[in-house]
Amino acid sequence: MTLKNTDERWGGVSQTFHWLIVVLILAIATIGLTMGELPKTPKYFWVYTLHKSLGLTVLTLAVLRLAWRLYAGAPQPVPGTPSWQARIANVTHWLLYGLIFAMPLSGWLYDSSSGLRPFRWFGLFDVPKLSPPNKSLSELSHDTHETLFLVLVVLVVLHASAAIYHHVFQNDATLLRMLPKGRRNQDQTPPDQLPQDRTPKESNDVA
Ligand code: HEM
Ligand code: HEM
Repeated sequence: MTLKNTDERWGGVSQTFHWLIVVLILAIATIGLTMGELPKTPKYFWVYTLHKSLGLTVLTLAVLRLAWRLYAGAPQPVPGTPSWQARIANVTHWLLYGLIFAMPLSGWLYDSSSGLRPFRWFGLFDVPKLSPPNKSLSELSHDTHETLFLVLVVLVVLHASAAIYHHVFQNDATLLRMLPKGRRNQDQTPPDQLPQDRTPKESNDVA
């Protein structure tokens, strides 16, 4: 697998960032949605610390990922993609980039402005507070954290549905090129190497 993105597919670095951040966000969201139900006693503070620590890990990965994306570029749209679809995908991707920054930043701002106890990243070091205690900022950042999460859910559902639709119904390389090259993508098999009774897939015409 090449590390850098090519015109045809995502390289190993972009794939690793993508799927690692997906798994982390799934874990953070699950913890975030359940931790409010826990008794507010010191016994369970570690659950909040885990949520926040994983969240700041996503923020760090987001910075590295964006830097890599700007350096390594992106593949061309899958052949045959109508330009309006490519534009929508592009806008969605940049909105998702915005959210993997804005989610942790709004949580960090809420943690800071609500004057909570010091937060140590995985118990290892103190994370600086972004602001002194401030009630209105705390309410604003709390509401922002919740609202952005709903926006993230909607966008991810649309984004993942589009990827699955392309894979299952359009039968093109959209999803496969974001996955390690475990097996050969039939769409890319040269016609002269196809079995006699098969013709190249027509699905690359549509994206
Ligand atoms: C990708 C990163 C993050 C995601 C997806 C995320 C998601 C969530 C979700 C879904 C909730 C529950 C909201 C609700 O009850 O309606 C929540 C709550 C919370 N988050 Fe995050 N979060 C992230 C990062 C952070 C970070 C970095 C911090 C702090 C440093 C943080 C601090 C909090 C706090 C303190 C709460 C509890 C709010 C309350 O008591 O109502 N989060 N988060
Ligand atoms: C938290 C969830 C997710 C986030 C934040 C996210 C974010 C992104 C971003 C920003 C890109 C653009 C790639 C880049 O510029 O680095 C992308 C591409 C992609 N994502 Fe996701 N994604 C998420 C979940 C998923 C899921 C669940 C799937 C599949 C079921 C998926 C499939 C894809 C595919 C196939 C591409 C490449 C599209 C193309 O080549 O045009 N993503 N994603």
